[in-house]
Amino acid sequence: MRRTKITVVGAGNVGASVAAYASAAELGDVVLVDIIDGVPQGKGLDLFETTPVLGVDTKIIGTGDYEETRGSDLVVITAGIARKPGMSRDDLLATNVKIVGEVAQKAAAASPDAIMIIISNPLDAMVYTAWKKSGFSPRRVLGMAGVLDTARFRSFIAMELGVSVEDIHALVLGGHGDTMVPLTRYCSVGGIPVSALIPSGRLDQIVQRTRDGGAEIVGLLKTGSAYYAPAASAVQMAASILRDKKRVLPAAAYLDGEYGQRDIFVGVPAVLGALGVERVLELELTAEEKAAFERSVNAVRGLMADVDKLL
Ligand code: APR
Repeated sequence: MRRTKITVVGAGNVGASVAAYASAAELGDVVLVDIIDGVPQGKGLDLFETTPVLGVDTKIIGTGDYEETRGSDLVVITAGIARKPGMSRDDLLATNVKIVGEVAQKAAAASPDAIMIIISNPLDAMVYTAWKKSGFSPRRVLGMAGVLDTARFRSFIAMELGVSVEDIHALVLGGHGDTMVPLTRYCSVGGIPVSALIPSGRLDQIVQRTRDGGAEIVGLLKTGSAYYAPAASAVQMAASILRDKKRVLPAAAYLDGEYGQRDIFVGVPAVLGALGVERVLELELTAEEKAAFERSVNAVRGLMADVDKLL
């Protein structure tokens, strides 16, 4: 049987962490790609040297040459610049649209049958960029944001209640930005609706901390943005796709009429399997949730228009 092959473009903080988690989970062999000569090679070798210790059989290499990525089953794009304090994700757009556009095109040419997960920000606009430049069908291009936003929300609720994160289920809709829509109605703790355990005013504060979750880390790190949780989130999506698990995970997925929207990538609950985004699950939203989702969609559409001007 052929070995599974994963390309990770961008060997910075997020990319190297994706490679580390994917290798530790024995998801497949990893090819790390970066433009800085020596960095992907060095990190690739260092990571390969973890495999005898971890007892996993994965090959990891680093390169600047897309030829080495040929025939990948999955491509994860993390290339681009990250936020510094005071910057919003949207401030990254002009720089990252060029980088993500170029790397998506090259990675797609080398692996025409791959599924592509984007992590670079501003997320929803970068998924749109990668889709345009890859020429892939929209079901094979998706973005990692919802799993991370949900993980942050779950972490904060676990901290608040002093219970295990394992028992907390949550759902976040919309774009990966200030307009994201945490759906507290669908959040439960061991099957109990969260509203029965946390008063609404306090829950609102937790929702706001979730929205600001990325900025909180940027403010602490000062030199860059979060990478462990973003990488772990992308690897969870990758596992569902490569193992055809059909997990229901929030992802920035292409909408073709779902939620009354067309021709946009935005965060929704999706079934992730061997074909990529196999289905988008539609939920009944309250008038308030619907309005918040539409605000988020409008913000993403604004960024997509900026991408169209730059491509
Ligand atoms: N081709 C390949 N790699 C590139 C290219 C390119 N054209 N341009 C930049 N890179 C690489 C950089 O050389 C760097 O190693 O992308 C890497 C980015 O790494 P970091 O600066 O450490 O940034 P990171 O924290 O990994 O974030 C990457 O993910 O979460 C998002 O907002 C974040 O957009 C940012 C991205």
